[in-house]
Amino acid sequence: MFPASVTIVEVGPRDGLQNEPQVIPTETKIALIERLAATGLPVVEATAFVSPKWVPQMADHDAVLRGIRRRPGVRYPVLTPNMKGFEAAAAAGADEVAVFGAASESFSRKNINCSIAESLERFAPVVEAARQRGIRVRGYISCVLGCPYEGEIAPKAVADVAEALYRMGCYEISLGDTIGVGTPLKAKRMLEAVAERVPIEKLAAHFHDTYGQALANLYAVLEMGLRTIDSSVAGLGGCPYARGASGNVATEDVVYMLNGMGIETGVDLQALAEVGRWICQQLGREPASKVAQALRPAAGA
Ligand code: HMG
Ligand code: MG
Repeated sequence: MFPASVTIVEVGPRDGLQNEPQVIPTETKIALIERLAATGLPVVEATAFVSPKWVPQMADHDAVLRGIRRRPGVRYPVLTPNMKGFEAAAAAGADEVAVFGAASESFSRKNINCSIAESLERFAPVVEAARQRGIRVRGYISCVLGCPYEGEIAPKAVADVAEALYRMGCYEISLGDTIGVGTPLKAKRMLEAVAERVPIEKLAAHFHDTYGQALANLYAVLEMGLRTIDSSVAGLGGCPYARGASGNVATEDVVYMLNGMGIETGVDLQALAEVGRWICQQLGREPASKVAQALRPAAGA
């Protein structure tokens, strides 16, 4: 049965901008986060406290997190792969953090330079330190529907990591189709396996749209009762450690589909499309979102 409402986690300022070849001024990032929060989005992932040698695009994480004027009721999670990242994020005032692992050994090594088991050992102290400070921790799993290095990924491998993160204390597990290779029935099978081990209300779908399947995949998992969707304004994004990965499903497309299904999001679609056009102007391109293109004001209007 479809849920009555869905929580959208906007990941554009992090997942979107981490993959931009050009340098984006810190003020532009801050303005993007503030504009997104003003559209009614309840969660705007702000940045990543990762190594600047690995992801130079996120090197200004401290200035970004400290610089945003926060709206009451909006959460601004940031990525923290280890204690160094967590300590810096906490010092900058993070109200929520996210650890990020993978269901594929090869991707884990490429992305965070360690095995899956080592990553869980690294995350445990982050989750514990966060718990002590009252900071919520989200857990990501990459490559849940396929890996750029290993191909097919067994649903059981995803369920194992999901259960480990949940037991560790992550309040929500976001299931990432990092390279957007999934199709609807595959997405369902994966979610069935995970939902046997972690309650479905604690799971989120984080689907990239590389093969244009993301909305269909979302429809499939919504039908199973999933209630949290990660998406990126204008479909920005990709992953620097997953060649060929294009952006996340566009938030405009998700909101349009959910509106049409009578599922509440609290997001103002017109305002969101405007933010998408604005950031794309800054980046010198058109929004990847079909909905944003359809809603574009007519020339001279
Ligand atoms: P490492 O090289 O193994 O780490 O990298 P290390 O502990 O050996 O440290 C090496 C250097 O990095 C040291 O500096 C550390 O101080 C520094 P040096 O002594 O050489 O000058 N360092 C840090 N600096 C800043 N912040 C930190 C930090 N940690 C160490 N937190 C590490 C391991 C995890 C740090 C590295 O691999 C890394 O930063 N990886 C991040 C990769 C990344 O951000 N990927 C994109 C996000 S994940 C994603 O997009 C998928 C997702 O969207 C879901 C999906 O779609 O599937 C979430
Ligand atoms: Mg992603």
